[in-house]
Amino acid sequence: MSRKVEVLPDRSAIVQRSLELVLASLQNALAERGQFTIALAGGSTPKPLYEAIASQDLPWEKIHVFWGDERYVPADHPDSNEGMARHAWLDLVAIPPANIHPIPTDEADPAIAAQKHERQLQEFFQLGAGEFPALDVVLLGIGDDGHTASLFPHTEALTVRDRLITVGNKDGQPRITFTSPLINQARTIIFLVTGANKQNALTHILAETGDETTYPARLIQPQGQLWWLLDQAAGENLDPSLFASK
Ligand code: 6PG
Repeated sequence: MSRKVEVLPDRSAIVQRSLELVLASLQNALAERGQFTIALAGGSTPKPLYEAIASQDLPWEKIHVFWGDERYVPADHPDSNEGMARHAWLDLVAIPPANIHPIPTDEADPAIAAQKHERQLQEFFQLGAGEFPALDVVLLGIGDDGHTASLFPHTEALTVRDRLITVGNKDGQPRITFTSPLINQARTIIFLVTGANKQNALTHILAETGDETTYPARLIQPQGQLWWLLDQAAGENLDPSLFASK
């Protein structure tokens, strides 16, 4: 794993830097594999990045979009991560509908939806039993409780190691989420973190040692590159030793 932590002046600097990293990974993927796979984060922080990607002139037919997690609501619901990304990016560009791989939220039982999406990923990446695909980029955020994707503190989703997709639990509300082993297979992981309210969680997440059940983002220890892009408000009072590249 190579971990890099960058404290940038503000959200627009984070958008610029994350766009650079996404485009660099896209170029590599197209050169090496002829296609690019990216999993999107939800929440509010990544939206301007999606808007910035939409303004690029890219080979949309070679780009496949997934979601790292989803709230268990329909795509037209205001809380939908799929809905947010479609408005900010996907509806604005000529990406083939078959290249968009939303997490299903139309089953009565979220566990069935999780299994359904697992099969969809196994089919797309042509996986054998027990195999995990390596996405080119996984975008993530963190909550002030230290969760990432929909891997929330002290929940069963944290313990799942033998599946790609599982059911997350946010205060009793179901979510569908990538598991930590799936996320950790990614070639590049980019955390986008803004706001002073994230400082306490960051201190525990970036520390040498700590409890991953209390701060689930600590589970993210990928094979490949790990980027932490923090704005000044999130990073300013953190101990500089936490920024040491690994
Ligand atoms: C979600 C996310 C979640 C998000 C964090 C940060 O569906 O909510 O995937 O993990 O990244 O909660 O959210 P903000 O960017 O809004 O602070």
